[in-house]
Formats: sequence, structure tokens, C-alpha cells
Amino acid sequence: MAPPLAVEAALPRHLSDGVSVWSGARLADLRSSSPEDYEALREAVDALGAASGVAQELKGPLTTAAKLVEAPGQRLYLLHERGSVAGLVKVGEKHLYYWRRGGGTVELDPVCVLDFYVSAQRAGRGRALFDAMARAERRDAKSLAYDRPSPKMLPFLKRHFGLADYVEQPNNFVIYDSFFGKDGAPPRAVGRAAPGVGRVVGTL
Ligand SMILES: CC(C)(COP(=O)(O)OP(=O)(O)OC[C@H]1O[C@@H](n2cnc3c(N)ncnc32)[C@H](O)[C@@H]1OP(=O)(O)O)[C@@H](O)C(=O)NCCC(=O)NCCS
Repeated sequence: MAPPLAVEAALPRHLSDGVSVWSGARLADLRSSSPEDYEALREAVDALGAASGVAQELKGPLTTAAKLVEAPGQRLYLLHERGSVAGLVKVGEKHLYYWRRGGGTVELDPVCVLDFYVSAQRAGRGRALFDAMARAERRDAKSLAYDRPSPKMLPFLKRHFGLADYVEQPNNFVIYDSFFGKDGAPPRAVGRAAPGVGRVVGTL
């Protein structure tokens, strides 16, 4: 497996340490209002997205600034550390068929973790970024779905949140058994905070 890449990229001037959240619309606004800041952020997002693709042995990046602009419903959370972007986690709703243990399918629209990467690993940064995202999304780890979780993601979810049991799905999404309530119902839909440019949603 390829080693993780070190990513150091300049940040827009107004972003302080912590976690910021971006939508495609907010990135497009930044591109119009402050092209220099947009360019710095685009470079950082594209470099981290590429590094994530390499770390997960994918054919290409799941996350670029351009892809985010084309996917209006998705939210991108960035971890900022000492003037660099040190990690990303991207989430969005997906309409999924879920095959139940014991048979039968149900249609779900969970918030899914679509990409997740930190440049310096196993030092708590992933947990800090994940927690900030989960707070902003108003969901806990068991109430999210995971798109093709990597061999590092599965132990991450077990280690931090005790998540282990799930039914393998043909679409490669993982939804843990504890996603469903005792009555077998999916979690109730809840609102989430609207993304803002560079709004810090968590601190380290
Ligand atoms: C998955 C990832 C975001 C987690 O962030 P992190 O900062 O490394 O995680 P934390 O330090 O908060 O938590 C550490 C735990 O994550 C898991 N983990 C992290 N790296 C791991 C590795 N190389 N092998 C196995 N488990 C790993 C372990 O459970 C670890 O706990 P441990 O050290 O006690 O065994 C990060 O490892 C990463 O960017 N990996 C490469 C890209 C990737 O696989 N992304 C997931 C896409 S679904």
C-alpha cells in the first residue's frame, strides 16, 4: 500500500485553527468574492483529495473543489492546523437500498461519510475532525452510513465508537446494526447547521 502523502498547503487568510465547513455554493461564492483565497483553498482541497485517493488505493480522487461545486448537497469539513489544511471529511445524503439481516430490503436516505483523510495519522486528528463533523451534522457515529470504508476506517469506528456489527451490502455501503432502533426503525431525520464560509465548527 502506498504511504500517506504529507500535504502542506497555504490557507485563505481568514481561517484559524479548527474545523471549517464548506458547501459547493460557498466555494463558488468565495471564487467570485476572493479569487486568491479560493485558489489557496482549491489547491489544499485538491491536494488532500488526491492524497486520500492514493491512501485508499482508488483510481482517482473522490474529493476536489470542482466536484464539490457540482454536488450541491454535500458538505466538506476541513481540519486547519497552523496555516495548513491537515484533513478532510466529506458527507452527503444518499438514497440506498439496504438488505436486512434475515431478508428483505428497505430504502434509506442516510447522511453518508463519502471521503475521510488526515495527513498525519494515528495522532487523534481523525477523531477530532470526525467529532466536529458529527456535531455539526447532529448525528453520532452509529447514525451515519459509510461508503466503502477502508481497512483503516473500520478499526477507527470500532476503536472510538464500538461499532462492529453490520450486514454486508452489495453497494459497499456500511450501515451498522445499531443504526436502527429497537423497533428496527432508522434514526429520525434531524436538521443540521447550515454551512458558512470558514465557519469554525470545532477546535483542537
Ligand atoms: C481513517 C483516518 C481518517 C483516521 O484518522 P486518524 O487520525 O489516523 O485516527 P485517530 O488517530 O483519531 O484514531 C486512531 C485509530 O484509527 C484506526 N487506524 C488509524 N490508522 C490505522 C492503520 N494504519 N491501521 C489500522 N487502524 C488504523 C485505529 O483504530 C486507531 O487506533 P489505534 O492506534 O489505537 O489502533 C486516517 O487513518 C486516514 O486518513 N487514513 C487514510 C485514508 C482512509 O483510509 N480513509 C478512510 C476512508 S473511508
